[in-house]
Amino acid sequence: MQVREILVTSALPYANGDIHLGHMLEHIQTDIWVRAMKAQGHKVTYVCADDAHGTGIMLKAEDNGVTPEKQIANVQAAHEADFAKFMIDYDNYHTTHSAENKECSELIYRRLRDAGHISTRDVEQLFDPEKQLFLADRFVKGTCPECDAPDQYGDNCEVCGTTYDATDLKNPQSTLSNATPVLKTSKHYFFDLPEFEQFLKDWTRSDNRLQSSVANKLQEWFEAGLTSWDISRDAPYFGFQIPDTPSNEPDKYFYVWLDAPVGYMASFKNLCEKRKDTENALDFDRYWAQENEHKTEVYHFIGKDIVYFHALFWPAMLAGSEFRTPTGVFAHGFLMVNGEKMSKSRGTFINAGTYAKHLHPEYLRYYFASKLSDKVEDVNFDLEDFMQKVNSDLVGKVVNIASRSAGFLVKKYDGMLTDVCAEPNLLADITKTGDEIAAAYEDREFSRAMRLIMQCADKANEYIDEKKPWALAKVEGAEQEVQDVCSVAINIFRQLMVYLAPVLPELTENAREFLNIDSLSFASRNEWLLGHQINKFKPLMQRIDEKDIAAMVEDSKASLGVTATPTATQDTKSVAKNKQPAAKDVDANAEQTDYIGIDDFAKVEMKVAHVVSCSYVEGADKLLQFTLDVGEAQMRNVFSGIRKFYEPEQLQGKKVICVTNLAPRKMKFGISEGMILSAGDPKTTLVVITLPDAAVIGDTLA
Ligand code: MSP
Ligand code: ZN
Repeated sequence: MQVREILVTSALPYANGDIHLGHMLEHIQTDIWVRAMKAQGHKVTYVCADDAHGTGIMLKAEDNGVTPEKQIANVQAAHEADFAKFMIDYDNYHTTHSAENKECSELIYRRLRDAGHISTRDVEQLFDPEKQLFLADRFVKGTCPECDAPDQYGDNCEVCGTTYDATDLKNPQSTLSNATPVLKTSKHYFFDLPEFEQFLKDWTRSDNRLQSSVANKLQEWFEAGLTSWDISRDAPYFGFQIPDTPSNEPDKYFYVWLDAPVGYMASFKNLCEKRKDTENALDFDRYWAQENEHKTEVYHFIGKDIVYFHALFWPAMLAGSEFRTPTGVFAHGFLMVNGEKMSKSRGTFINAGTYAKHLHPEYLRYYFASKLSDKVEDVNFDLEDFMQKVNSDLVGKVVNIASRSAGFLVKKYDGMLTDVCAEPNLLADITKTGDEIAAAYEDREFSRAMRLIMQCADKANEYIDEKKPWALAKVEGAEQEVQDVCSVAINIFRQLMVYLAPVLPELTENAREFLNIDSLSFASRNEWLLGHQINKFKPLMQRIDEKDIAAMVEDSKASLGVTATPTATQDTKSVAKNKQPAAKDVDANAEQTDYIGIDDFAKVEMKVAHVVSCSYVEGADKLLQFTLDVGEAQMRNVFSGIRKFYEPEQLQGKKVICVTNLAPRKMKFGISEGMILSAGDPKTTLVVITLPDAAVIGDTLA
């Protein structure tokens, strides 16, 4: 076999927030791939880093009253701890705020400049006169120039969807100081992307570098036309200063996205330093020099929101500075929870640390594996399905094979497996399936790999069910058969451990000890365990308990509700000023909510109410009047503005939900003593929430 030399990366998480399960999807996907390729005997190096630069991080540090250096060090420690819990096995985890990154970024910049790919021009931008800084789009709010909706961000209107320049906003305000921004001009540095158009068109279409859907997306961007990319930011900025700028001009900094991908290189360079003079030494040039492009392979795992940076800017930057370009860029979709975008208020915005407090990380690794393919599709983390699948596949099918057969062998045969395999065809079949599984891993078709593995487990369980070793054990003279059957089962279990090792490193490591074998490499499975002694079986995995999932959701609500700070990543990803159709898939991070605490929520009293009568109100064309029985001595009178949607008789006799501790409101037609809950859009459709007839009048809703 030809040993391939492969460098793999996951996108560098921003150093301004916690790792959440969306990030984890990416790092688990990458880690499984890396482990699978290593298990097939390749030389794989996996590096990552924190993305530590930018205005967001600078401001966050200011908020926390620490230096940016302190801020990013704290966050990096937290990130590394979270990734370790999920067994993400980097060869190196570095930071973009490093000497190596400064050196590589400057080198790339200077080469681009010397080759004539950098130009400068003046840019007029909103400037906060109090904070004394230029305002990125997400730090400006104002009235939409199109529809007059108030309180809209500087890049697009959430009400009418128009995209515009921050300078077009009416009544703009800085979100940092509330000051009215002024227009100010400064010199910016640009990378000439259009010069790379032909190169990029060829690059994105050749050698299977990109998934076809990504290549198609790029085609749209080519058609829209490439524009030059603004790579500079004015002080104050947390980042690297652009070298060699005129000494009589203000300092300029590299825009965070310029040095972020260089961080892949820099982390690898840092690893080369660390391993110098060891037997695992790595040669930087072998992986990054242009002339070695075909000797080694470089792959980036990323989310779909940052394709623009990895499939256009990055290869153009590399080609323009005479470095090799990536062999492949693998984009994945976004993580949904229970079918929806992660939501802080529903408790489905789950931080990695919160998850790990309640549930074993390997459950999630398996679940993600069972969902991931090579497509850019969103992955749904359905909590119910998660529990079912893990319990039935891993505990019910896989672990069960060993727990059903190991006991007999250890108790009666001193842990010895038979010298001859009693079912060579079955075992050969499962050994053979390993080739397909290995290919599925390599193709990032993890869900297919998991299906194949579960089919093997099904075959083993069918075999055991048919032979019934527990019954045979009671039959005199069947001793040999019991040992035969259990030895076959243990051999199949061993194959499954090899196949699952990339996904379940801890479980399979424990199983490796129990099986008393040296390796879980893919090739090792070809040597069956004959005349081999195993150790005593220890439980390998507990079932998921529903209560733990519920506790995790509660904990997510609680922890995020209190500390929630909007970490809008929109602007840092928007392609600066040129408004390419890029990066508009807003990161789940960017979600912003005005939170109420659980205490506020608990103050709202809602009861099951019976509509005793419902009628029109003379002279009011919007209202219906209700007499509600909410289980109190007195009926309540409630007015509700839903006449447009209901005839009174449609609601008469129904059970509805009434907010009963709303302060009584005096209206033109009388006093309203509560509010009836409905859902929908008050302008077009509103539906009163009704409860089944069996609901008990006066019950409090919880
Ligand atoms: N710092 C940049 C990446 C620089 S790479 C040179 C960044 N950081 S991020 O923290 O916002 O995102 C890091 C990675 O996590 C990205 O690949 C992004 O797509 C991924 N995800 C962030 N939220 C996600 C989900 N909800 N679901 C899946 N992946 C998500 O972008
Ligand atoms: Zn608008």
